[in-house]
Amino acid sequence: MQKKVTVVGAGNVGATVAQRVAEKELADVVLIDVVEGLPQGRALDLQEAAPIEKHDARIIGANTYEASEGSDLIIITAGLPRKPGMSRGDLLTTNAKIVKIVVEQVAPLSPHAILVVVTNPLDAMCHVALETSKFPKNRVLGMAGVLDSARFRSFIAAELNVSVENTHAFVLGGHGRTMVPLPRYSTVAGIPITELMSADRIDALVERTRLGGAEIVDLLKTGSAYYAPASAVAEMTESILKDKKKILPCAAYLEGEYDIHGLFVGVPVKLGKEGVEQIIEVILTKEERSALQKSADSVQSLVKDLNEMGL
Ligand code: NAI
Ligand code: 2OP
Repeated sequence: MQKKVTVVGAGNVGATVAQRVAEKELADVVLIDVVEGLPQGRALDLQEAAPIEKHDARIIGANTYEASEGSDLIIITAGLPRKPGMSRGDLLTTNAKIVKIVVEQVAPLSPHAILVVVTNPLDAMCHVALETSKFPKNRVLGMAGVLDSARFRSFIAAELNVSVENTHAFVLGGHGRTMVPLPRYSTVAGIPITELMSADRIDALVERTRLGGAEIVDLLKTGSAYYAPASAVAEMTESILKDKKKILPCAAYLEGEYDIHGLFVGVPVKLGKEGVEQIIEVILTKEERSALQKSADSVQSLVKDLNEMGL
């Protein structure tokens, strides 16, 4: 493989991302974690699956960063996941310190890389990554919208008994309770779901999407979702490394788009080899715009807390 992806955090999300990236032969993978033996063990296990899975990606595990040098893409999953009863915001201080330490070590070795942040609270952690790396804004982004949209799509497909492949959905805003699923822009075979379902059913699916992360935390009890999050990261990785220029909802740094200034918020972006190559501004109704602003306000309050803590 010519491309190199570094995944920091060899826990549930990180290891599953490594698996997806290797099995799709998107790149060689360097898996890094502070726990001794964990990234090495997971990398070796994944490597030994390669003959059966029929891929030639190389996967290396390490506790230090040397092997990550010259990465094309860095995916940050290091940090604590939620437990039942916790909000993503409860992870703010601990994970901000972890993301800062990680970025300080990983960014200088790969100065041309694109940074994809997964650690929660996602939107606020993107700020830490941007400020610490000093990378241009197009090369720092967060994964959440692809996951939230995939959840919405899977609920739509189940509700209408149609293939998930016929579904499309956009979820904008911060990755939290205030996220903004957009039914008008969510379709089945190009038909808006507003023409296919009652308003009550749409409201129910929207609410389930907003609580999608918590639904899984409550079931697992010891951690949070990782299969769908890893699939979402892999889709973003593919679009970037293959320069596919897919339009995907991602946390991107807004400077006036959607009337939001200096904040990472989930919006549709064109993802290619330069990272965020364009922010797509869809036309929103007054209600949708105000819901997006409310969601941005909740991200802003986490960023304010971070600034007050000097992080
Ligand atoms: P996990 O606990 O399974 O793995 C986290 C790993 O990070 C652990 O192996 C830990 O040793 C490692 N770690 C901690 N400090 C580190 C450091 N300084 N350097 C390197 N590694 C370090 O957790 P999981 O389930 O993998 O989740 C990871 C993060 O991703 C959590 O913050 C979670 O909330 C977030 N997440 C975000 C999603 C999103 O949509 N943005 C979706 C799913 C998870
Ligand atoms: C999720 O939505 C935990 O943010 C993660 O599953």
